[in-house]
Amino acid sequence: MLDLEPLKKEAALRAAALIESGMRVGLGTGSTAKYAIEEIGRRVRSGELSGIVGVATSEASDALAREVGLTVEPLDPRPLDIAIDGADEIAPNLDLIKGLGGALLREKLTEVQARRLIIIADHSKIVGQIGEKAPLPIEIARFGFLSTIERLRQIVPGGRLRQPGAQPYVTDNGNYIYDAQLRPGSDIAALERELKGTLGVVETGLFLGMAERAFVASPDGVQELTR
Ligand code: A5P
Repeated sequence: MLDLEPLKKEAALRAAALIESGMRVGLGTGSTAKYAIEEIGRRVRSGELSGIVGVATSEASDALAREVGLTVEPLDPRPLDIAIDGADEIAPNLDLIKGLGGALLREKLTEVQARRLIIIADHSKIVGQIGEKAPLPIEIARFGFLSTIERLRQIVPGGRLRQPGAQPYVTDNGNYIYDAQLRPGSDIAALERELKGTLGVVETGLFLGMAERAFVASPDGVQELTR
């Protein structure tokens, strides 16, 4: 089976090369974003970059960024110059599904403030239509979660509460995640509005119209996609 790790790293290095001294950088979450954080840290430690401030999208990325020598600050209302993150699905117009790693709320809060959102991925994340491969993670409040799930089932019939073991998965924000199965071809913008209007929903993993470009690595090289 093809080892995707070198591909993830290749894509990440292309995005990390966009970072310049003095930038405020949104640091994504996941196995691909990890390589970008490590590379930015390496460039800072080597003296190639200075004055970099990272804003982390999860506790895990916060810890990794500090470990590799980056200055990390909490999100405040100032814009970020750039954010680099992975994705679970990338549509041809760069609409995304994110959140399989559970960090969708902090990712959206952070990346919406970035002047440029750069997505990094291996080619397995490319889809023709959103919902083709990955479930849509929806972060929901713990209180009354069974009622929220009933409401969600009226909108997206398939799906289940994320529960890797005996207990449900809990996000960095103390919420649960419902992984919804979408019908490919459905009106994604309308679905986003409906989900956001559903009581108990905190955020969805639909990132629509946010990404500026994507570096997608395959055995044939890294492809640069723009909207
Ligand atoms: C984290 O919550 C996610 O949005 C990740 O960015 C996404 O799941 C991609 O992760 P990988 O790079 O590990 O596939």
